[in-house]
Amino acid sequence: MFGNLSLRVGALYANAVARVSLALTHFHRLAVAAAKAAGRMLGSYRGRDLAVAYKGAVNIVTEADRRAEQLITEMIRKAYPGHIIIGEEGGKTAPATAREPIWFVDPLDGTTNFAHGFPFYCVSIGVEVEGRVVVGVVYDPVRRELFSAIRGRGALCNGRRLRVSATEKLDQSLLVTGFAYDIRTSRRNNFGHFSHFSLRCRGVRRTGSAALDLCYVADGRFDGFWEMNLWPWDTAAGSLIVEEAGGRMSGFDGGPYQLRVPELVASNGRIHEEMVGVLRLGDQIDPRMIQLMGQGTAEGRA
Ligand code: IPD
Ligand code: CA
Ligand code: CA
Repeated sequence: MFGNLSLRVGALYANAVARVSLALTHFHRLAVAAAKAAGRMLGSYRGRDLAVAYKGAVNIVTEADRRAEQLITEMIRKAYPGHIIIGEEGGKTAPATAREPIWFVDPLDGTTNFAHGFPFYCVSIGVEVEGRVVVGVVYDPVRRELFSAIRGRGALCNGRRLRVSATEKLDQSLLVTGFAYDIRTSRRNNFGHFSHFSLRCRGVRRTGSAALDLCYVADGRFDGFWEMNLWPWDTAAGSLIVEEAGGRMSGFDGGPYQLRVPELVASNGRIHEEMVGVLRLGDQIDPRMIQLMGQGTAEGRA
């Protein structure tokens, strides 16, 4: 009798797992279709005069951002009318928890690049279920690179499996970061961290697209990334892609990564502790940098 019962419980469990797994496959398929459709739309703006509006002193938004978000939102809504959609331009705040899946959408990550014709931007879509990001898709329409991951199934770029770099030491690493839009007014502007890291690695890049920065960590093109003022739509997809490529995500203190916390570190895992150690130095400019800047004057060189 018990044998039969445990068989039935086992079958029910297997059914539930198969249903969840199928749902994730569907979410992933829709996210890919929506990201590619939005990417094509962004491409159609190439060479056209862009009407730019200001959200802050240096924070801009274009018609392309808005129309791409509308397109993605309509596609999700049609397939899943009950799901929650939090898009950058939609003005809604993400609930801390929800019974329904939450879709985090950045229709154009790298707006400033896009508006200036600098070809580095993407569409980013992440799906959170019960507090965990389970699907992440980032599409770079310029290079036609599709980065994606489903939790537990690894991360891919155009069908190729992603793996973080094997770099062992910060001293040998190439890092990437970004600066927030409140850079002109905030004291916590990342210049201090930037100076500390610049003196301790091979180089620090600033590309202007946090979602692609994370995917580049996942693909070993960068060894690590940190930033201070990001939103869930910037990082939901990329954070899963990093983790599924064998990388590590955390807060600045090395504690667990939390999607709704604006500060985060991503790395290949091997240099993670060293990165956290440098962040502990704080956001004051490294005194050695100030000294070097002094020596850079004509007087210093003489
Ligand atoms: C920005 C980019 C940039 C990062 C900013 C983000 P947006 O997103 O990801 O790399 O440094 O913090 O706000 O405004 O281009 O979607
Ligand atoms: Ca963004
Ligand atoms: Ca954006």
